[in-house]
Amino acid sequence: MTARIALVTGGTGGIGTAIVQRLARMGHKVATNYRDEAKAKAWAEKLKAGGTDVVIVPGDVANPASAEAMVKAVEAQLGSIDILINNAGITRDTTFHKMSALQWQEVINTNLNSCFNVTRPIIDGMRNRKWGRIVQISSINGQKGQYGQANYAASKAGMHGFTISLAQENAKFGITVNTVSPGYVATEMVMAVPEDVRNKIAAQIPVGRLGEPGEIAYAIEFFVNEEARWITGANLSINGGQYMGW
Ligand code: CAA
Repeated sequence: MTARIALVTGGTGGIGTAIVQRLARMGHKVATNYRDEAKAKAWAEKLKAGGTDVVIVPGDVANPASAEAMVKAVEAQLGSIDILINNAGITRDTTFHKMSALQWQEVINTNLNSCFNVTRPIIDGMRNRKWGRIVQISSINGQKGQYGQANYAASKAGMHGFTISLAQENAKFGITVNTVSPGYVATEMVMAVPEDVRNKIAAQIPVGRLGEPGEIAYAIEFFVNEEARWITGANLSINGGQYMGW
C-alpha cells in the first residue's frame, strides 16, 4: 500500500478521532485542525500514548482564510494532501420558527461552506498529481430531514450535492469523491440530545442501538483504498437500518 497524506477536519471529535486512528493504522500520515490548542494538544498526547501519531494545526474550517492557512500548514509539515475527509460539523438544534439567523449561518458555514473552504486549496494538487480521495461526512438527517434540524439537514444534504458535482468534474484525474451518511452514533453530539428524545430515536433503529465511531471509520478505510478507484459519487448510509432510502 502507498502511504498517503491525509487531512481529517474536526479530527478531535467522536467520529473524527476514529477516522484519524483508522487512517493512521492503515499507514497514512494524518493531520487534523483545532480551534482550542490546549484541548487538541491533550487529545494528540492521548493518541500518541496509544500509538497514533497525528499532526495538529490551528484552523477554523468555517473561515476561508483560516482554512487555507490550515491546509498550507499541513502541507508544510507533511507534504501534499492526497486524502481529505470533510468531517467537521456542529448542530444548533431548534425548530425553524424559533431559529435565529446566527443558528442558521453557524451550521451552514461550519458544515457546508467548510467543504468549499478546505477542498478549494487542495483540489489543484490532487488534479496535478492525478490521485485523490475526498469523503464528506454527511448525516442520515440530510437524507430524511429531522424535526429541529432545518439548518443541519440543509447543510448535510448540500454536502452530497457537492460530492456528486465534484465527483463528475474530477473523475478523469484519478480523484474519487464520496459521501458517508452516519446515523445516530454515540458521540458527544448525539449525547447532547435530551435523553427522552434520544431514547425515542434509538428505539427507531432496527439494529437496536446507537452506532460506534469505529463503525463509521470502517467506511473511510473502504473509500480511500486504492481498489475503490471506480467508486465515485456514492452516498453510503451507515445507520443501523434507521433509514433505508435509496
Ligand atoms: N415529530 C413530531 N413532533 C415532534 C418531534 C418529531 N420528531 N420532535 C418533537 N416534536 C414535538 C413534541 O412532541 C412537542 O409537541 P407538543 O408541543 O405538542 O408537546 C413539540 O414538538 C416541541 O416543540 P418545540 O418547538 O417546543 O421544541 P423544543 O424547544 O422542545 O425542542 C427539539 C425541540 C430541539 C427539536 C428537540 O426535540 C430535539 O433536540 N430533538 C432532537 C433533534 C435531533 O435529532 N438532533 C440530532 C442531533 S445529533 C446529530 O445531528 C448527528 C447526526 O447526524 C445524526
